[in-house]
Amino acid sequence: MQIVNTIQALRALVKAAKMAGKTVGFVPTMGNLHFGHIRLVQTAKSQCDVVVTSIFVNPTQFGANEDFGSYPRTLEADCTLLADGHCDIVFAPSALEMYANGTGQSTVVTVAGLSEQLCGEHRAGHFAGVATVVSKLFNIVQPDSAFFGEKDFQQLAVIRRFTEELAFPITIVGVPTERAADGLALSSRNGYLTAEERAQAPAIYQILSQLRQAVLNGQREYTMLCDATVLHLQKLGFDPDYVAIMRSHDLQPATTTDQQLVILVAAKLGKTRLIDNITVNLAI
Ligand code: PAJ
Repeated sequence: MQIVNTIQALRALVKAAKMAGKTVGFVPTMGNLHFGHIRLVQTAKSQCDVVVTSIFVNPTQFGANEDFGSYPRTLEADCTLLADGHCDIVFAPSALEMYANGTGQSTVVTVAGLSEQLCGEHRAGHFAGVATVVSKLFNIVQPDSAFFGEKDFQQLAVIRRFTEELAFPITIVGVPTERAADGLALSSRNGYLTAEERAQAPAIYQILSQLRQAVLNGQREYTMLCDATVLHLQKLGFDPDYVAIMRSHDLQPATTTDQQLVILVAAKLGKTRLIDNITVNLAI
C-alpha cells in the first residue's frame, strides 16, 4: 500500500494504474476508521482493480460549534486497517494541499433543496462543505467508481445528485450500514459516548426497526408516527433533531402512495450527535 500526501503524487499513481488498464475505485473518508469504512474498501476492491482511500478531516463541512478540533485523527492505526483491508493507495493531504486558496475559497458546490432539509436544517453549510470537498476529490482522483455508506443517507443523495448534474463520469455505489452486534450503526463519533450513553444508543436502531414494522403493517399516519417517536426519544434521554419518513429516491416527504421509503433519525445523546436510517420497501 502506498501513502501519498500531495495531489501531484496521487495523480502520478492513478495515471500509472490507468495506463496499465486498471479500473480505479475511490473511498473518501475522514479517518478514525472502523469496520464500516473497511466494508467500503472491500466492496470497492471487489469491483475495481485499484482502490484509493482518502483520509481528510474536511474543515469546511464542520459548523463553528461542531467537533472539527476534537475529531479523532488516527492516521497510523487507519493505515494499518487499510493495509489489512487490501487498500492500494492512501491519499492523506494537508488542509493547505486541499484548500490552496484557503477554506474560504470562492468556488463552492451547493445542491439546493436537498441540502437544506433534515441534517442540513440543523447543520447550515454542512452539505456544501461535503459536496465541495467530494467534487475536488473526484477531480483529483478521477476514479471509475466511488463508494459511500448508506448510513449517511442524505449525504449519499447529495453526492448522487451533483455527480449527475455536474456530469462527473463516476459510478456512485451505496454500501449498506455496518452495525455493532446490538444494532448501533458504527460511527467515528461513537467514541465520544460515555459507557452509559453507549448502552442507551442502540435504542435508535430499535426504534427505527419498530417504525419500519409499523409502516409494513399498514400504518400510514407518517406525521403522527414521527411526532410520537420524537417524544419517545426525548423520554429515553435523547435530544432529537428530527424523525422523518421520506421517499428514498429524492428524500421528499413520503405520501401514502410511495412504496420505497426511508426512515431517518438524528438525535443528540449528551454531546454526541447520532444519525441512522432504515429503508422500507412496500412493493413486496
Ligand atoms: P466519514 O464519516 O469518515 O465516512 C466515510 C464513509 O464511510 C462515508 O461514505 C460514510 O457513509 C461511510 N460510513 C460511515 N459509517 C458507516 C457504517 N457504519 N457503515 C457503512 N458505511 C459507513 O462521510 C464522511 O466521512 C465525509 O463527509 C466525506 C464523504 C469523506 C467528505 O468529507
